[in-house]
Amino acid sequence: MAKKIIITIDGWSSCGKSTLAKQLAKKLGYVYVDSGAMYRAITLYFLRNHIDWTNKSKVKAALKEVYLDFHFNEKDESSEIYLNGENVEYVIRDLVIAEKVSDIAAIKEVREFAVAQQKKLGAKKGIVMDGRDIGTVVFPRAELKIFMTADNAVRVERRFKELFEKNPNITIEEVKNNLEMRDYIDSHRAVSPLKKAHDALVLDNTNLTPEEQFQKALSWAKERLKDK
Ligand code: DC
Repeated sequence: MAKKIIITIDGWSSCGKSTLAKQLAKKLGYVYVDSGAMYRAITLYFLRNHIDWTNKSKVKAALKEVYLDFHFNEKDESSEIYLNGENVEYVIRDLVIAEKVSDIAAIKEVREFAVAQQKKLGAKKGIVMDGRDIGTVVFPRAELKIFMTADNAVRVERRFKELFEKNPNITIEEVKNNLEMRDYIDSHRAVSPLKKAHDALVLDNTNLTPEEQFQKALSWAKERLKDK
């Protein structure tokens, strides 16, 4: 049987992590897991159920009611997140969620809940997972760790285009403020902040096309598979 590895992709918001992760997973026949979708789905649950997330016991009780899983959508060839049996893949991309998700992802209990599930998903290897702490905390022994970055202006432009398609009232200022706020909270929180793992390879895609970045990452993956 072919050997399988774990590939982690961490980095700033809107760097194109999920695009790359999906391409790699497809090419290698691996499972793709979007860990950010888990924090977004938990945020959706908290907002819908008016959970006071500043209250530890309320958070713990609420998490007992949250069941997350991923299903592969054959038509779109992508994996989609379900919250208590409901497909929430589309609604969690909304700016309303993006405005709160970094606060919720900074809560220790929330992270313990999500990280435990993420570790289980990687138990059999053959997985590409993207997020903020995947190479540092979730899979510190992953065979290939990628840390993605891109110029701020480029990231804002990319995210704006994505959100504008859903909501033409959105402004570039709103998107810029949200990205900057999330990057700040994600990299300054006390529990597993976003940072490059010491053994991660940096991929700056400011001037790369998706195909160029894919080829670069694929060559890294092939090298690691050879080493195994
Ligand atoms: O990747 P994303 O933008 O969908 O992630 C949403 C938020 O979730 C992000 O602002 C930070 C948080 N997150 C995290 O703290 N740890 C992860 N492994 C993934 C996401």
